[in-house]
Amino acid sequence: MMGAFAGRVVLITGAARGQGRAHALRFAREGAAVAMCDVSAPDPASMSPVASADELSETASLIRACGVPALAMFCDVSDEQAVAAMTASMLAKFAAIDVLVANAGILPRRQDAWAVSAGDWNRTLAVNLTGVWLCAKTVARAMIAAGHGKTTTISSTGGMKGSPGFAAYAAAKWGVIGLTKTMTAELAGHNVNVNAVCPGPVATPMVLNSAFSPSAAGQQGDPAEELARDLRAPDAAVDRRRSR
Ligand SMILES: NC(=O)c1ccc[n+]([C@@H]2O[C@H](COP(=O)([O-])OP(=O)(O)OC[C@H]3O[C@@H](n4cnc5c(N)ncnc54)[C@H](O)[C@@H]3O)[C@@H](O)[C@H]2O)c1
Repeated sequence: MMGAFAGRVVLITGAARGQGRAHALRFAREGAAVAMCDVSAPDPASMSPVASADELSETASLIRACGVPALAMFCDVSDEQAVAAMTASMLAKFAAIDVLVANAGILPRRQDAWAVSAGDWNRTLAVNLTGVWLCAKTVARAMIAAGHGKTTTISSTGGMKGSPGFAAYAAAKWGVIGLTKTMTAELAGHNVNVNAVCPGPVATPMVLNSAFSPSAAGQQGDPAEELARDLRAPDAAVDRRRSR
């Protein structure tokens, strides 16, 4: 198959749905073989339920329909042994890793920083920051050995400024930028690029749920638009939430 990524092997975490699925399909349409993972167990810290096994296998089917190989794996990116096993499975099947998109993430319940439990804080950091580091460091070894590679980490505009109601999320996403800048410098001499992407609001299940916004239950407007307003005017968003 032809395409900008023909013959390349990519690994995308959190690919069962949302932006991860979109990244996976885009790479597939450009000819890449796509390895992907998602988590298999519910996550009590996540505001919205994590993806289902059916969604992961549907992403794999959509990729195969593009005419490229797909490998779908269950992996909790916060679990070092699971990340090592996932990477080993991918290397066993494709014998290479050219691109990593460290996309998996959760949005925790909306609470002021002083109300967040240590459990929710630790879990958010474990998935959104430690999970990115574990995946990036594990594939870095294979990329160094191959003499090339590209890792993209997914931060957020929440990693560039404060996010009232989402202290752990913001802290993790700021951390992703620090990790990325550091690994960029460390790996440059190995011809391995590490870059961060900071999406603004995107209409995925992370925000399209009634816990994030009543509008997601069809009561008012578009939750992605509400998030956009929050990000543009965080102080106003705080006032609005207080009045609820
Ligand atoms: N949606 C937005 O507005 C927005 C804005 C900025 C950044 N982001 C970031 O974009 C990335 C993708 O999010 P999305 O918008 O597609 O949301 P999403 O909830 O649809 O997708 C996140 C995916 O990650 C998976 N996941 C969660 N915990 C995991 C774990 N421990 N191990 C493996 N997979 C896990 C989920 O099951 C899900 O499939 C996330 O890192 C998110 O923080 C989203």
